[in-house]
Amino acid sequence: MNQPERLLVFDTTLRDGEQSPGASMTKEEKLRIAKALERMRVDVIEAGFPAASTGDYEAVRAVAELIRESRVCGLARAREADIDRAAAAIKPAAAGRIHTFLATSPIHMQMKLKMQPDAVLEQAVWAVRHARRYCDDIEFSPEDAGRSEPDFLCRVLEAVIKAGATTVNIPDTVGYSVPEQFGALVAYLRERVANSDRAVWSVHCHNDLGLAVANSLAAVMGGARQIECTINGLGERAGNAALEELVMAVRTRQDYFPCDTAINTREIVPTSKLVANITGFAVQPNKAIVGANAFAHESGIHQDGVLKMRETYEIMRAEDVGWGMNRMVLGKHSGRNALRTRCQALGIGFASEAQLNEAFARFKELADKKHEIFDEDLQALVSEATAALVNERVRLVSFRWCSETGERPLAEITLVLDDEERKASSTGDGPVDAAFKAIDSIVKSGTELLLYSVNNITTGSDAQGEVTVRLDKGGRIVNGQGSDTDIVVASAKAYINALNKLGQADQRTHPQITAS
Ligand code: KIV
Ligand code: ZN
Repeated sequence: MNQPERLLVFDTTLRDGEQSPGASMTKEEKLRIAKALERMRVDVIEAGFPAASTGDYEAVRAVAELIRESRVCGLARAREADIDRAAAAIKPAAAGRIHTFLATSPIHMQMKLKMQPDAVLEQAVWAVRHARRYCDDIEFSPEDAGRSEPDFLCRVLEAVIKAGATTVNIPDTVGYSVPEQFGALVAYLRERVANSDRAVWSVHCHNDLGLAVANSLAAVMGGARQIECTINGLGERAGNAALEELVMAVRTRQDYFPCDTAINTREIVPTSKLVANITGFAVQPNKAIVGANAFAHESGIHQDGVLKMRETYEIMRAEDVGWGMNRMVLGKHSGRNALRTRCQALGIGFASEAQLNEAFARFKELADKKHEIFDEDLQALVSEATAALVNERVRLVSFRWCSETGERPLAEITLVLDDEERKASSTGDGPVDAAFKAIDSIVKSGTELLLYSVNNITTGSDAQGEVTVRLDKGGRIVNGQGSDTDIVVASAKAYINALNKLGQADQRTHPQITAS
């Protein structure tokens, strides 16, 4: 039997995924996700846009220092300063890539860039040549390729390959394409571009019409051999193509696709949970592959079929994508060293003894409430411990709530606000409402609550609840997370976490909004 060709997986959770409003991540969080992606055997990790801010630059550089098995990529507009910054950020990588891009659609060239097509072509070639001075692995993307003139795309792509681009990526930036047409576009470009065999062809699809995965798969049939995607389909607006769906479609339908990825699919669910926990973007229960119901058989007929022979209704095995693998890693009697060692394996490093001590104290507290501590619990616990050590404006000291049939629930809270201890109590329509009102009576945040969601971190009635709270203040959106075996406490923690995030500076340049 013929060996399938290799399909490269380029994950952009840390760059395009982070462009979702409210999904911004700290350097430590990015490192944890990068480590999970490496464990999953992703080929390329797009770690960020180094020119966006000092924080972004440092995060990409830290990922480049940490990751040894995957290639680490930095995004750059087709400008000297951006490319220089990306080159410096990926310098420590075992294998690095600079990804530079410039828009080629008539609407973007006229309205955003205010450039003539010939000038765009010239700048694209210049950018690739400049990037090649630093790195021999260069990706070029004609932004908004899905709405670009195919013949102009051919000219640009041929020229950038000649200038040294080793990957050419076809982005459907605004999610406008439909599968048959997008697959045909990729096939046409590969056929028409004279030197097309000298570059890997890649696609990058957005999900505005819910077609990102279908478009990417059609492009694979048209000859693309790199797919750009994010965990859980995170990304701007409706998101990017979901890694887990692409990988499992290709793996499950090997009778159809001529290629396969090198992904260790058993890492899919743990990585999905990690990304949901860090970003606060919960996964809908009926989401393919990683949703809580993705492998649940409700109807009696289905259950009967599955019990007789699994394949009657199941096309994939839950365990193959990492379901049901909650690894009981630590318990009540585990010590500081066991915690440090397990965290290291998860890519979590402690910057100081104080950070380890904080995490250990929280671990002991949790182990008293919950006998078995899983990797997912550790990830949530470390998120909170790290946040607690940052100089936060609002800190939870103690919290008490009571609820009784026929009575309005009451919450009493003690917080430290700007180094001063304050107490408040409030009733509410429910205990969570009472808790938020009590907190707000102290903080007076002036925020609007956009979203409140609860998920269980692991299974079992002693599982921790993980709460996400999305707040909007004057157009700035942040997500806060909190976890606890008591979901009202988890809610209060999540609300406080979001308020603290609103207090932190956020002055990043968006790669696609500013004119080039
Ligand atoms: O969607 C897009 O066009 C992008 C580019 C930067 C590749 O994210
Ligand atoms: Zn994109």
